[in-house]
Amino acid sequence: MSTQPSLENIVALAKRRGFVYPTSEIYGGLASSYDYGPLGVQLMKNIKDLWWQTFIVGREDMQGLDSKIILNPDTWVASGHVTSFTDPLVEDKVTHLRYRADHLIKNWLKNQTDPKLSEIKVENLSLTELGQFIEQYQVTSPDGNPVTQPKDFNILFETAIGAVAGEKSAVYLRGETAQGIFTNFKNVLNSTRVTLPFGIGQIGKSFRNEITSGPFLFRQLEFEQAEIEYFFDPDKDDWQNLFKSWQEEMVRFVNQGLGVKLENLRWRRHSDAERSHYSQETADLDYRFPFGWDELWGLAYRTDFDLKQHMQHSRESLEYLDPHSHNKIIPHVIEPAVGLDRLLLMVLCEAYQTDKNGRIFLDFKPSLAPYRVAIFPLLRNKPQLVDQAQKIYQELRQSLPATYDERGNIGKRYLAQDEIGTPFCVTVDFDSLEDDSVTVRERNSTKQTRVKVKELATFLQK
Ligand code: GAP
Repeated sequence: MSTQPSLENIVALAKRRGFVYPTSEIYGGLASSYDYGPLGVQLMKNIKDLWWQTFIVGREDMQGLDSKIILNPDTWVASGHVTSFTDPLVEDKVTHLRYRADHLIKNWLKNQTDPKLSEIKVENLSLTELGQFIEQYQVTSPDGNPVTQPKDFNILFETAIGAVAGEKSAVYLRGETAQGIFTNFKNVLNSTRVTLPFGIGQIGKSFRNEITSGPFLFRQLEFEQAEIEYFFDPDKDDWQNLFKSWQEEMVRFVNQGLGVKLENLRWRRHSDAERSHYSQETADLDYRFPFGWDELWGLAYRTDFDLKQHMQHSRESLEYLDPHSHNKIIPHVIEPAVGLDRLLLMVLCEAYQTDKNGRIFLDFKPSLAPYRVAIFPLLRNKPQLVDQAQKIYQELRQSLPATYDERGNIGKRYLAQDEIGTPFCVTVDFDSLEDDSVTVRERNSTKQTRVKVKELATFLQK
């Protein structure tokens, strides 16, 4: 069985079967922007529900939240995003196309054989060092043209509210969901009975004016995040222990919850130069994507940076009153922040399988698959078969995500269900009319079993 699909195969299947379409495609699409089709939206919902169930509903120390995309713009001044949410931008001097300096250098390094060069960690280079590197090695754009000196480019999306654009009405589409959590910290404290340590989590859209697009769903202008801010008293809880336990939680979720093999996961610690302005320690959980290892899920120790900044700028107290000692403290925070589009892309990559006969199937965990079961009548022009298949379908869909297909032949229907990762196909044939049994075919092994209709629902739950 092959487990290393190419990204092209994934993109093609995703479109062919209704998981992912390029956005507004009839107008030529939009860079780094994709829509989820009927199957993609269901897969995404299953991933989201699992995250929410695991990290919010399933834990006594967590609260959920849903804050706005557009916040008071002072939020982003206080958080430092207005000044520091930047990527290094260079411009092709001939075509004027823009690129991320670190990405250009990384790609250039891929083609170098000098072992000294291969040791260079591009993430660690400052803006000046990126510029020096480009000059020293004459790194060019993909078109082979010289590029300008790198400069900081702010990736916050700015827009305006009201009829007149101007300084007063300038607002930002949030660059992370986290800030809505910090600005609601006091509200959650006052309206619930939480005591430290506790977390607030939310799922929602974030926006970044990314210089480099893709690959595919990996880096988009608009994407969905699932973020947690886990607040604690640094005098009572050791941040390193909390950090470690969150690392374990994240790996458990990806491995056991989403069915991803441990060998395709690794941790990568950020250097001082790479870390975001708010973080004292950051580690990325990387996944082995078809285009190489890359960041799936970030874990950052943001200290009391954000609450302090917001206290200063809003002049509101965001302190926590310890119920026992009656001391006031500003909690510290550990932040597991993941992009759901990246989780979905990973789940697609991980599930994509080709067997020895060239058959393609998606090996989704049954709990994630858009459909648990597909029901077919052996022949569409036999009313008794269609009636019986319809009856079973209507009954099963009360308790399971089920679909029905009577087009083409059985082989084609299997092929279609394999490619959308449906774990079971149920066929109603002529014997079914006599013995009240159906043939259940299992996706991965293609093994077929005869099952009594009344035992079907239980059989499919396994
Ligand atoms: N609040 C912290 C924060 O936003 P981040 O590492 O910039 O940290 C968190 O983003 C996660 O969001 C990333 O690990 C990634 O999964 C996802 N993400 C970030 N930028 C993205 C983009 N342009 N497209 C898709 N997902 C993105």
